[in-house]
Amino acid sequence: MTDEAVPVVLVTGAAGGIGAAVVRRFATGGWRVVATDLTAPVGPDIEHAIDADLTSVAECRRLVAEAVAAAGRLDCLVNSAGVWTEGPVELTEEEAYDLCLDVNLKGLFFTTAAAIPHLITTSGCIVNLSSDAGLHGNTGAAVYCASKGAVSNLTRALALELAPRRVRVNAVCPADVDTPMLAGQARNFGGDDPGAYLADLLALYPQGDAARFVQPAEVAELIWYLAQRHAAPITGANLSIDFGLTAGS
Ligand SMILES: NC(=O)c1ccc[n+]([C@@H]2O[C@H](COP(=O)([O-])OP(=O)(O)OC[C@H]3O[C@@H](n4cnc5c(N)ncnc54)[C@H](O)[C@@H]3O)[C@@H](O)[C@H]2O)c1
Repeated sequence: MTDEAVPVVLVTGAAGGIGAAVVRRFATGGWRVVATDLTAPVGPDIEHAIDADLTSVAECRRLVAEAVAAAGRLDCLVNSAGVWTEGPVELTEEEAYDLCLDVNLKGLFFTTAAAIPHLITTSGCIVNLSSDAGLHGNTGAAVYCASKGAVSNLTRALALELAPRRVRVNAVCPADVDTPMLAGQARNFGGDDPGAYLADLLALYPQGDAARFVQPAEVAELIWYLAQRHAAPITGANLSIDFGLTAGS
């Protein structure tokens, strides 16, 4: 394989728990990795790092242009940048609403839009981070659910739009993953007992006493699978990785 034929992945939210695991998985698999976050991520697995605030459409476009200029090609985009918010709808401030929708949906949308021409060239693919919250409602997290529900259905629509041009689009839908986001949820919304907040989340799982949080590497492995050529028949899918949380009750 010539160096030019080595595929390239662009990972957003790459300083976060899932993003960092995705960077590791693709680098281990022999891909070249371009990584981005609010502050440019660092690490031995990263060939090129870019700082970008994806709430800005101009930044989304600059990010993709810089990534392709640096790496020369783009084979997979993993949209992992995201923020959590929760609280009753009637108490939700415009600022919290805008941040959640701007990062989770608008940033993902315009990063994707900028990447499409490059992914068409390589017959590449997109993997979006949706959530169990994209497939069912989470009590007390209406704004986050709205953002992830939009990501899940955007994934379906875009898969149909890009299928004739040989670009696949899928989403993974994890339940609670053991990352800084989850720790931040417990810290910011768990009142004076973050441990009880986390225990309440685990109590929702069908495993009972054996319930545990999903690990970032487990999500990264699923994303890695979706990026491979042998996943060719899979597009427009929202794949749950949630211990059955969304399977029913
Ligand atoms: N952790 C979970 O329980 C969980 C569950 C389901 C889905 N998800 C989704 O998976 C994705 C990754 O989550 P995570 O758990 O790794 O979270 P994380 O907080 O560890 O990482 C998210 C990253 O996104 C970055 N980010 C935030 N705002 C940004 C902006 N404006 N521009 C660029 N980057 C920005 C953050 O700096 C952070 O590094 C998110 O989309 C999240 O909604 C997480």
